[in-house]
Amino acid sequence: MDYDVRDLGLADLGRQRIAWADRTMPVLRGIRERFAAERPLAGMRVAACLHITTETANLLRTLKAGGAEVVACASNPLSTQDDVAASLVRHEGIAVFAVRGEDTETYYAHIDAVLDAQPVLTMDDGCDLVSRLHEQRPEQVKQVLGGTEETTTGVIRLRAMAAAGSLAYPVVAVNDAKTKHLFDNRYGTGQSTLDGIIRATNVLLAGTTVVVAGYGFCGKGVAARARGMGARVIVTEVDPVAALEAVMDGFEVAPMAEAAPVGDIFITVTGNRDVIRPEHVETMRDGAILANAGHFDVEIDLEGLARLAPGERRRPVRPMVEEYLVDTVRGEQARGRGGAGGRLVNLAAAEGHPASVMDMSFANQALSVEWLAREAGHLEPGVLAVPEAIDSAVAALKLDALGVRIDVLTPAQQAYLASWQLGTR
Ligand code: ADE
Repeated sequence: MDYDVRDLGLADLGRQRIAWADRTMPVLRGIRERFAAERPLAGMRVAACLHITTETANLLRTLKAGGAEVVACASNPLSTQDDVAASLVRHEGIAVFAVRGEDTETYYAHIDAVLDAQPVLTMDDGCDLVSRLHEQRPEQVKQVLGGTEETTTGVIRLRAMAAAGSLAYPVVAVNDAKTKHLFDNRYGTGQSTLDGIIRATNVLLAGTTVVVAGYGFCGKGVAARARGMGARVIVTEVDPVAALEAVMDGFEVAPMAEAAPVGDIFITVTGNRDVIRPEHVETMRDGAILANAGHFDVEIDLEGLARLAPGERRRPVRPMVEEYLVDTVRGEQARGRGGAGGRLVNLAAAEGHPASVMDMSFANQALSVEWLAREAGHLEPGVLAVPEAIDSAVAALKLDALGVRIDVLTPAQQAYLASWQLGTR
């Protein structure tokens, strides 16, 4: 088996940590047990381009239990947990091509290696695998039955591909399942982003001003958790509805130009580029911390930042933290600290979202792949929703695992909801 990981000697540590994550992934574990009995993916080759973490390892083990042949690469050059990659190769027989800190050339070489395996199903996080396949291997695209996409950014890219008539097979937008984005994006990103910033900088959040750029589900989670840690939170937005939600959730809302001079910690979660630009950085306070939790490293204008702090004005100060010495518009010099080189801080400086929430995201992934395999040949190319039955089943299984019971509709209530005659009385 071909593979490329940092060091197979790390495999035992990886296995231990994968087992630790598995303890809080009961829904995925249940699916794995059923897959092992039913083998719904028998003979199918699945290419996964995901963050190589302990949680992902449990998803890949589930696919393998279902009979799939699995090949995997990283969906970000900095998020790979090398011990996990090693364990997947050594203990699970899964071909992994991922080394933490790989350069861009190696990153794409690893995607190519996974595509060389001729998958019939793709599982992507950010759409780099699917876009590479469509751009560079038009012949190979025809043999793919379907795919899944994990994240908001990837779904946006897929919709753009579909609108341009370029998407050649059905892809399930796992991100859009309720049991994914309402939980993973909000509680997962909320906690793991602050976890990454705290691990990288050891900053005390209480009493600081945290500026959160973007108030989608990820931004909502980050803002809520920062407030919970005692920070004053300012939200920046471009969408009036999202901005209004932030106002009514009790946050200050301001344009970045007004937030920049008063913020201590800046966190971008917009999915868009150039959210923090040189003209903002020049007005920031001494010691300001900049971090990105969006999928790509485009949200902070890194080239603009490099122009403000050329040569020795930029230096590493801690693992995952660089300091930039900038001349401010006030005529002083300020030291800004950037985390994880602008790459997503929750996975680069911490371990990504905790297993308990990835349990639901990856249950949706496993069940969506099973559905695609079953429906193969009957689906049109395009971006598809996770079937409602899968979404509800994941919620019900998670509640069950948490030991939480809920009410059921009485027959009279069911009839009432399906009727229209009974109004004011
Ligand atoms: N995305 C965010 N957190 C993650 C995790 N722990 N594993 C895989 N993908 C993730």
